[in-house]
Amino acid sequence: MSAPPQPTVSPFRNNVLAGKVALITGGGSGIGYEITRQLGLHGAKVVITGRRQQVLTDSCEALAAEGIAALGVQGDVRKADDCERWVHEAVGRFGRLDILVNCAAGNFLAAAEELSANGFRTVMEIDTLGTFTASRAAFPALRSAGGGAVINISATLHYGATWWQAHASAAKAAVDSLTRSLAVEWGAFGIRVNGIAPGPIGGTAGLQKLAGVNGGEEAVNKAVAACIPVGHVGARWDIAIAAVFLASPAARFISGDTLVVDGAAWLWRPPAVPRGAVSRASRGAEAASRATGLGGKAKL
Ligand code: NAP
Ligand code: COA
Repeated sequence: MSAPPQPTVSPFRNNVLAGKVALITGGGSGIGYEITRQLGLHGAKVVITGRRQQVLTDSCEALAAEGIAALGVQGDVRKADDCERWVHEAVGRFGRLDILVNCAAGNFLAAAEELSANGFRTVMEIDTLGTFTASRAAFPALRSAGGGAVINISATLHYGATWWQAHASAAKAAVDSLTRSLAVEWGAFGIRVNGIAPGPIGGTAGLQKLAGVNGGEEAVNKAVAACIPVGHVGARWDIAIAAVFLASPAARFISGDTLVVDGAAWLWRPPAVPRGAVSRASRGAEAASRATGLGGKAKL
């Protein structure tokens, strides 16, 4: 099974976020949309942002059809004025802001020697500067709400290193650093700051663009799943439900952490010896080692 399993029912009460207002950058598509939807299905009013107005309009319609109060506000996370306008409109429409999810990001595969300075800068500006700028814009409203939550959508690219993604790896490493710095500085205002590091998530632009596999969703899922210990790619629901948890009172003592939601994908390496051959190879090596006197009890 390489496709993500069908989402299960939420383990949380459907009013766990009642009365809360959430702003989700990049909330019109992919993982950001499902985070928005789950925050909404758990009681929050939601504001989504992005550059494509039509995507926002379509997403708000779909959210409204599920009974979720939603507002779409167009803009670019690289522009401080846009981030401030998003917060202003969120508070203007819904009266407060309690939750900020920094999900907007950009990425593509590029060999470092072929990546221009502007290409590197573009991804740093969307992912890292955008996370800082949106967080800074949201700070006064989160502080006024008297107990806010910031959730930064990161990645595992920079745990070790990831081929052809020097730009995004650097950007997400900086995002994780920001998560810790803001958690330290803003805890005094009742604001918790955490991250989620998704692994490969099926049916997303990220996986389709970055897996390096030709073919449709099924082919991508299958190829990628071969390197995930749990045997399948993740679902957008897996990230969204983690966001509901981090935004909820259940996470009231969690701040400055980045939760990895990846089926152990980043830990995966091909085994040096196939599973079926481990015992035979190991016992053979043990016997040979003892026979040569290199193993067993040390000779003093
Ligand atoms: P996606 O659908 O392309 O989501 C990115 C969103 O960010 C889009 O809605 C996009 O909307 C918005 N965005 C991009 N640049 C922006 C800008 N300059 N200003 C405002 N909004 C901007 O991709 P996804 O795969 O779901 O990724 C969502 C998040 O998960 C990203 O942070 C990504 O790094 C992370 N992630 C994904 C995976 C995965 O397997 N998919 C794995 C690890 C981490 P517009 O284009 O309309 O602006
Ligand atoms: N390989 C190498 N360089 C690339 C590239 C690629 N595939 N795509 C873009 N670039 C470079 C451009 O050449 C340009 O550099 P230059 O001026 O030196 O030529 C720079 O990146 C900016 O490109 P531009 O298209 O002007 O940026 P943009 O702001 O319109 O778009 C991107 C930003 C490139 C990140 C675009 O992919 C995007 O909007 N992504 C959002 C969605 C996404 O990536 N989702 C996946 C999950 S994160």
